[in-house]
Amino acid sequence: MTGEQTEKSAEQPNQHHKPFLSLLTQKETDPLPSSPPVWMMRQAGRYLPEYREVRKQAGGFLNLCYNPELAAEVTIQPIRRYGFDAAILFSDILVVPDALGQSVRFETGEGPRLDPLANAADLARLDPSNTDKIFSHVYETVDRIKSELPDETTLIGFCGAPFTVATYMVAGRGTPDQAPARMMAYRDRDSFQKLIDMLVDTSIDYLRGQIDAGAEVVQVFDSWASVLSDDEFDQWCLEPMVRICNGLRQYHPQVPIIGFPRAVGPLYRRYVEKTGVNAVGCDTSLPLEWMRDELQPLTVVQGNLDPILLLNGGPQLEQRVKRIIETLSGGRHIFNLGHGIIKETPPEHVAQLVEYIRAAAG
Ligand code: CP3
Repeated sequence: MTGEQTEKSAEQPNQHHKPFLSLLTQKETDPLPSSPPVWMMRQAGRYLPEYREVRKQAGGFLNLCYNPELAAEVTIQPIRRYGFDAAILFSDILVVPDALGQSVRFETGEGPRLDPLANAADLARLDPSNTDKIFSHVYETVDRIKSELPDETTLIGFCGAPFTVATYMVAGRGTPDQAPARMMAYRDRDSFQKLIDMLVDTSIDYLRGQIDAGAEVVQVFDSWASVLSDDEFDQWCLEPMVRICNGLRQYHPQVPIIGFPRAVGPLYRRYVEKTGVNAVGCDTSLPLEWMRDELQPLTVVQGNLDPILLLNGGPQLEQRVKRIIETLSGGRHIFNLGHGIIKETPPEHVAQLVEYIRAAAG
């Protein structure tokens, strides 16, 4: 008994100082914190003047992602301002195609551009054997963040889920419904399967590298999962995520994995059951009572404030924060948005949000 405890504390130093990591690793029956740990998707970004300043200095967006000093700086900016319980590595999900040799460009005001991947010949040009040239910049960033981050702040690493990354690789850009990837999945199933398989293996390597460099939790963003039918969801989102979780757990069984299959409605339950994720990111449309009754008994729920309400601010924001916390306070809950923060959001609203969260819980 004593031996077991000693071993555990030796393995996880400082864990009791880290409310976010503790919640993710504690047993369901352990006492809950007085207020939910909080962080926000896209918490480092254009709504912050100090981010815009560094972004200018870096030149292009990917230059910022690959500059460990500047990427570490923008990761820590929102922690300094708001004291969030977690920092998320500053990078992008499209670093993975870039590392595979499908170069990515970010044109001002237009979002990402890649040369579209249309067929087996395009696929054959990707090179999964040489990704570390790019990934090593990210690992160096993680290492730097780790040495600068306050002890109580948990560092989250991340990648995009294979399907979501594939939608950008196939279309060469964001589209309203990601039809090009869905078409390829029907028309040339073998090629699409090969692409997904390559992304599964690369994602495992990449997350493993981030953890080796110091990431304490990882999140997998499947922002486009909701465009698929249930059968296609099983094949392109669920099954690959099961493989990522199993693959990663072979190397790092203790590191919590957060899944974010955005806006998949009732499929959330199957996703949690099959993958065994340690927490699940819930989008804004998921009813709070459903999260409480269907998901919270299975895992930690994370979410799900409407980013538009944060942009708006005011009394409605305070009321909704209270209702989210009250509904989910009987189980394990991480406060977050239902999707990324919107760039027009006044930074004062975020400060107010953090105050409301801490006050609502008393
Ligand atoms: O603070 C954080 O959350 C960490 C950094 C982060 C970024 N992108 C920085 C970023 C994370 C976790 C992401 C994830 C990401 N990137 C997703 C999944 C989450 C989601 O929002 O659904 C997706 C789909 C992408 C792809 C991507 N990156 C797009 C479509 C765009 C352009 C749209 C936009 O918001 O401009 C980006 C660019 C991007 N990634 C920015 C930031 C801060 C803005 C670029 C800039 O500074 O000019």
